[in-house]
Amino acid sequence: MLILGIESSCDDTSVALLNCSSQGCVVVSEKTASQIDIHKKYGGVVPEIAGRAHAEKITPLIELILENQPQPDAIAVTAGPGLITGLLVGVEAARTLSYALKIPVVAVNHIEGHIYSTEIAADSKIEFPALCLVVSGGHTELILIKKPRQYKLLGATRDDAAGECFDKVAKLVDLPYPGGPQISKLGKNGNPQAIKFPRPMINDDNYNFSFAGLKTSALYWLRDHKINKKITLEDFCASLEQAIVDVLVSKTVKAVQEFRPKTIVVGGGVSANLKLRETFADALSGSNIKYPDLKYCMDNAAMIAVAGYYHTLKEDFTNWRNLKADPNWKIV
Ligand code: KG4
Ligand code: ZN
Repeated sequence: MLILGIESSCDDTSVALLNCSSQGCVVVSEKTASQIDIHKKYGGVVPEIAGRAHAEKITPLIELILENQPQPDAIAVTAGPGLITGLLVGVEAARTLSYALKIPVVAVNHIEGHIYSTEIAADSKIEFPALCLVVSGGHTELILIKKPRQYKLLGATRDDAAGECFDKVAKLVDLPYPGGPQISKLGKNGNPQAIKFPRPMINDDNYNFSFAGLKTSALYWLRDHKINKKITLEDFCASLEQAIVDVLVSKTVKAVQEFRPKTIVVGGGVSANLKLRETFADALSGSNIKYPDLKYCMDNAAMIAVAGYYHTLKEDFTNWRNLKADPNWKIV
């Protein structure tokens, strides 16, 4: 079954064609137009500029991906959550294609896409019950999936997402957007114990997160201290990264102990972080932890197509007339 995936919820316009069967999904072709260079000079994503850039790219990308290919069996499009300016572009493209070519459409939740990103280019599927940590620039959520498509939100961030904390602190020390990979790169050569940053909510008896206070601690540290030879920028980055990783791992381990999942899925942009992966490997050795291929940690249309495939099997379609973007769509 051929599934056309469309993703435009943030700063990547992405289109992919996947061949899916009970054996899994294989990418036939895919192309992503990243807007990082456009937003870099503003230090973050500017929604109006993002919307315009998506509108410029979406049609050429769809044409390119569908060139010389048979007609897809279904279209899977991110309908939310995300920036409305971007979501509207993808959803309108999907509606138009559905009407013109008479192809059914599946509205996919972006978070569900990140969860299924672990099945692309992998030879194993998620086994249920599964516990998912979705960590990106917009999300930090712990989700329990008892059965396919039965999501239960265990906890989420009360303010900033983990990736947002990386990005905002990186900006404080003049590192370019997106800050997560930059902090991680510098942190590799630093001492993670150099600065004792707080681990917000780490001992709270719930699965919620909070990263805004950590960002403020970093701001105050920079106000009161100087980065110098004794405490280097590498030390600063390593210490911040360690604080974020400690909280993410600690809360996830607690949920694993309570719910005993068969698979632990870690997805979203921050799942590319090597320190996070190493710390999970130590803390949960012997567990079945799945990550996306590094290429599929960031936003991409292939993951939307995989999630869409499972909905297509259940004929969980939305008529193009009723298909709408929902920037606040909650998976649970
Ligand atoms: O999933 P994604 O592409 O977009 C959202 O849905 O938000 O994630 C982007 C986020 C950014 O905040 C970026 O700084 C972060 O993922 N990120 C990382 C790393 N690679 C990307 N954070 C920490 N370490 C990394 N290696
Ligand atoms: Zn994302």
